[in-house]
Amino acid sequence: MAKQLFIDTVGCQMNMLDSEMVVATLRKNGYELTSDIKGADTILFNTCSVRAHAEDKTYSALGTLREWKKNNPNKIIGVMGCMAQKDQKKIFDRAPYVDLVVGPGQLQQIPELIQQAEDGAEQQMAVGRLRSEGSLNEIKRSHETFDPLRDPTMRPTPFQAYLRIQIGCDKFCTYCVVPNTRGPEQGRPPLQIVEEAKILADQGCKEIILLGQTVNSYKYVDADGGETRLAELLEMLEQVDGIKRIKFVTNYPKDMTVPLLEAVRDLPKVSPYLHVPLQHGSDEVLKRMKRGYTVADYREMMHRIWDIVPDATVSSDFIVGFCGETEEEFQTSIDSIYEFKFKNSFIFKYSEREGTKAEAQMPDDVPYDVKQRRNNELLAVQNEISLKANEAFIGRTVDVLVEGLSKKAAKQEDSGPVKQMCGRTHCDRIVVFDGNERQAGQILPITVYETTPFTMFGEVVTQHQTGEPVLLPIQS
Ligand code: SAH
Ligand code: SF4
Ligand code: F3S
Repeated sequence: MAKQLFIDTVGCQMNMLDSEMVVATLRKNGYELTSDIKGADTILFNTCSVRAHAEDKTYSALGTLREWKKNNPNKIIGVMGCMAQKDQKKIFDRAPYVDLVVGPGQLQQIPELIQQAEDGAEQQMAVGRLRSEGSLNEIKRSHETFDPLRDPTMRPTPFQAYLRIQIGCDKFCTYCVVPNTRGPEQGRPPLQIVEEAKILADQGCKEIILLGQTVNSYKYVDADGGETRLAELLEMLEQVDGIKRIKFVTNYPKDMTVPLLEAVRDLPKVSPYLHVPLQHGSDEVLKRMKRGYTVADYREMMHRIWDIVPDATVSSDFIVGFCGETEEEFQTSIDSIYEFKFKNSFIFKYSEREGTKAEAQMPDDVPYDVKQRRNNELLAVQNEISLKANEAFIGRTVDVLVEGLSKKAAKQEDSGPVKQMCGRTHCDRIVVFDGNERQAGQILPITVYETTPFTMFGEVVTQHQTGEPVLLPIQS
């Protein structure tokens, strides 16, 4: 019987992509995936360190395996990803029965390390050296061999795939652990990215989501000194047959250049959707965060976006309760949501992270209940803005890439041939509608008739109305 692998993935899209690749390598070594954790031969946790909560969850999951491992000493437990890189040996201190600790730069070693663990090796660790600001060349990763490994079953849907174009981050925002866990920023060679996109298209992908921590800072310099930036890369990817949509996350405000925005405007496959976190509405706080821009710089960028790509939607991340955040400073984040009218914002309570500049230099002095209240307040304002923006779509027809059953329909028992389906517009808005499962993977014209802050409800436009063949819901 094939060996059984259980893998749990938390954190960002980078981690989901890493898990996809690890699963692809392990399948080659005779593993198959299981959802039964205690029936598995190997259990892997792909971990995140961005906030304490993510780490606590992993440590508590490890705790529940203590007895199991005692009774099943031949089974393997591995901790991979950002927490492996950040905590290193500390993981063995807290959970000595863990067999492997593997950083994000060493994932290609996993099959070999599992083999050695099966042969009796204990507490093996493969991680990069710990990095501090200014030490830019300590964690290097061989993407040539690892990134092309893909496993379609691990994708968000069969029609969507992540594609890494950049690893690491050199920005060193004072609150953030990512430059330590993911190492220096490096762009992947553009031709390699295009080749991978072609493979994904051949496997049925309609949408590719380009990944980088500061994806719009993407740069690749070839041996002759020729430079490729994101705008050029998008032009190359636009030519890949079969790919219908291209998105890229996450953007850094200072690198939203005119040529990039012109590429977004001129290339039909590139989504007019830009995730560009502002993080905070106050210059003072942005300075403490060392984000490298002021609110005025961000405003200038927004005007550039609105001028060049008037139909663009912009979304943001915010941190509330960062070191020393006063009530007045918090209010500026509220003001900025009203001003910039983000499509949506991910809002996080500041979580002090070991090894960051903020931890070393600034007290984490906003009480938890204040952080919680500010989080709720900001979210309420964002919801109000999101609802208004979505309401402007009522009566309009949008092209929706159908992803599959809606969350609600996925939970229901078989409810007949008409199913609630779910998809996204080119500008990343979620739309649900009555349809059928054969529509998954198609791009359908849908007229919006109702909305909440998060979800628009619509109806498929019929063939009669568009002249285009459309698969209609089968009426029973
Ligand atoms: N590279 C991306 C984001 C990476 S982390 C960027 O620069 O935008 C995703 C989000 O987590 C960040 O945008 C930030 O809002 C949040 N975040 C990062 N570190 C955090 C911390 N210590 N506490 C709370 N939120 C944090
Ligand atoms: Fe973290 Fe800042 Fe880099 Fe984003 S840009 S990953 S927030 S250090
Ligand atoms: Fe978390 Fe690492 Fe991503 S810390 S957010 S999994 S880069």
